[in-house]
Amino acid sequence: MTDTTSPTASAALFLNATPEEVVAGLTLEEKASLTSGASFWTTKAVERAGVPAIMLTDGPHGVRKQREGSDHLGIGDSVPATCFPPAVALGSSFDAELLERVGAALGEESQAEGVAVLLGPGINIKRSPLCGRNFEYLSEDPLVSGVLGSALVRGLQSQGVGASLKHFAANNQENDRMRVSADIDPRPLREIYLRGFQRVVEEAQPWTVMCSYNRINGVYASENPWLLTSVLRDEWGFEGLVVSDWGAVNDRVAGLVAGLDLEMPASSGRTDAEVVAAVRSGVLDEGVLDVAAGRSVALAQRAARAARAGASYNPDAHHALAREAAAASVVVLKNEGGVLPLAPTSSLAVIGELARTPRYQGAGSSLINPTRLDNALEEIRARAAGDAEVVFAAGYGEGGAPGEGGAHSDGGAPGEGADELVAEAVAAARGAETVLLFLGVPAELESEGFDRDDIELPADQLALADAVIAANHRTVVVLSNGGVVRVAPFAERVPAIIEGWLLGQAGGGAIADVLYGDVNPSGRLAETIPVRLADSPAYLDFPGEHGHVRYGEGLFVGYRWYDAREARVSYPFGHGLSYTTFEYSNARVEADASGLVVRVTVANTGGRDGAEVVQVYTSLPVSAVARAPRELKGFAKVALAAGSSREVEIRVRREDLAIWDTRIDGWAVEAGEYRVEVAASSRDIRHTLSVDVSGDDVLVPLTADSSIGEVLAHPVAGPMVQQALAAGGDGAASGLLADPAMFRMLASFPIGRLASFPGMPFGPEQVEQLLAAANAPR
Ligand code: BGC
Repeated sequence: MTDTTSPTASAALFLNATPEEVVAGLTLEEKASLTSGASFWTTKAVERAGVPAIMLTDGPHGVRKQREGSDHLGIGDSVPATCFPPAVALGSSFDAELLERVGAALGEESQAEGVAVLLGPGINIKRSPLCGRNFEYLSEDPLVSGVLGSALVRGLQSQGVGASLKHFAANNQENDRMRVSADIDPRPLREIYLRGFQRVVEEAQPWTVMCSYNRINGVYASENPWLLTSVLRDEWGFEGLVVSDWGAVNDRVAGLVAGLDLEMPASSGRTDAEVVAAVRSGVLDEGVLDVAAGRSVALAQRAARAARAGASYNPDAHHALAREAAAASVVVLKNEGGVLPLAPTSSLAVIGELARTPRYQGAGSSLINPTRLDNALEEIRARAAGDAEVVFAAGYGEGGAPGEGGAHSDGGAPGEGADELVAEAVAAARGAETVLLFLGVPAELESEGFDRDDIELPADQLALADAVIAANHRTVVVLSNGGVVRVAPFAERVPAIIEGWLLGQAGGGAIADVLYGDVNPSGRLAETIPVRLADSPAYLDFPGEHGHVRYGEGLFVGYRWYDAREARVSYPFGHGLSYTTFEYSNARVEADASGLVVRVTVANTGGRDGAEVVQVYTSLPVSAVARAPRELKGFAKVALAAGSSREVEIRVRREDLAIWDTRIDGWAVEAGEYRVEVAASSRDIRHTLSVDVSGDDVLVPLTADSSIGEVLAHPVAGPMVQQALAAGGDGAASGLLADPAMFRMLASFPIGRLASFPGMPFGPEQVEQLLAAANAPR
């Protein structure tokens, strides 16, 4: 490529060339420039070579495209876009097919706005209920995060728009997020925190992965060669580009070497100059820069080839999809005495400002400027029969904040104090057949950038709840919250609770759909609701101190912890009610080379059409390693007409049965009789099955420090030792080893030390020979 080529001709050449060919025609400065942003949201173009700039924007549950010259986090002038339910809600749908459609709709909107990469999905594990950004994440479980994350990526990329899988990795808190080191042992790191990322990368090949701000075991994610190259590319086969979280770059040159391809946002040319200087001085191999620049070129090519000029979308259809997704994500926690669904003729008191002024998304970089905004109050009024009275009382101020001055003339005058608001709510509650009490976390308590201090609803809302429940026991609580809240203060005193999360712009309609039974609820908890914060797994190790957070609970995250501790919870992982009932029968399991096949017949035994989330948990009761009592390994959302039944097949991939074996630094399936639970929630096990699973050959190199037990279990050394024992010595040693109690005692003896004991049939020399034979390549 030369300077004399016309722009159109360069663009055509660019599209037809390989990334390597394009890079070969660039100067050192041009290559460096391709590995950092031009602005907050765009990459740099190299016009003479036809390389276009592309746009990357947030994400994840809508398109937040800011207009020229606006600030980073401001939402004021971002273009209107459909605000789909945030991840906290979508996770509860347990519905991969639905999420794929949401992803595709996000892709259509990105195309319409000329956005090449949408910054999401976020699939970090909800380690603590306090993480301020839990609303942007799917689950406390890696299978749910991985399966649903893949679906979102597939849908988005089906429209020729790239995903940015984030935040890679172990970004499980906001406190000190730009610096903190997440100190995690290898097994939880692999089995919990990386597992979902691995699945999405392997299944869906996101165009980009966004590295997180934090450090992992002391090393910044943005300059961590183990994370960005060994694991992500060499092990998982990632083919796309690694982009930094905005401002995550600590040392740009170290980042490039580690596998970080693109720094965002722009750094005013400062770090580009550092990169150029590093190449010139020989500190940075130019080949490393070529690779990163090549990935940047490849991304621009992908985007240019997929771009659909003049693309548009149908905002009404997307609003309808947002409503469908929101309704599928609502979780009915409790429903006693048939209080729900509501009859259209019921007279209602709708209490709580959140019914009228909804909280429908969290704050920070994911804040979408919605195309429309439903509120539950209007939707309920529209749904109620003409003569059914629906009165409203605000109860507290806007955004869920305490009373002063928040209320409007319809159900509370401006300037009214908390006492009047409560009195008005109580009066409304008394006169109604059923109360719908909307409670939730105030907007200012939940945001990117900081964590919550507790999981309590505001004290004034709880006082309001006390007063309202005392006035009318037939109270349905409807919750709006991004992070889990404690429900124990009122759960026993109300007949029904609806977990409404943050449901996006169509959440108000979706709540009405569920309340009136137009949609039969099918959401299930993707995270446990604990009785108290103090019961939660990371309680003693969150958010860490002096720059380090130790993941002391290890593998026992979410329900894995509560189940291992046999702790009471308010509502368990996987829980959620329907207006119909499901029965499970004829459950069976088979193991084959690719894993397990679980089959169960599910019948809808109630009077309404509905959908059930069938869950498969496994465990290995006799195991050499620490394990949770149950781990989700498969699930399926099954729609069933009233009275119908069908056989459901759930496959558990063999790799999902594997543990991370720290002896070999690799995945391995342990042999044994696995317990397989077919369940309606982690605490509603319908069938317990068992199945023999063959193990992977794990050959741990033997040393003189290997114990007798390990040596005897070794396929080569074991028989050799047995033979030596049978044949040699004074017989005392073999006698000892034949006595089970003695054997248990001796089994932990390192073979090297036992060898020098008197009377042993093998001495140090034989041990050396034995080790050589055992470790010889096979
Ligand atoms: C957030 C990312 C976001 C980026 C761009 C960062 O502060 O952590 O999730 O995509 O900003 O807005």
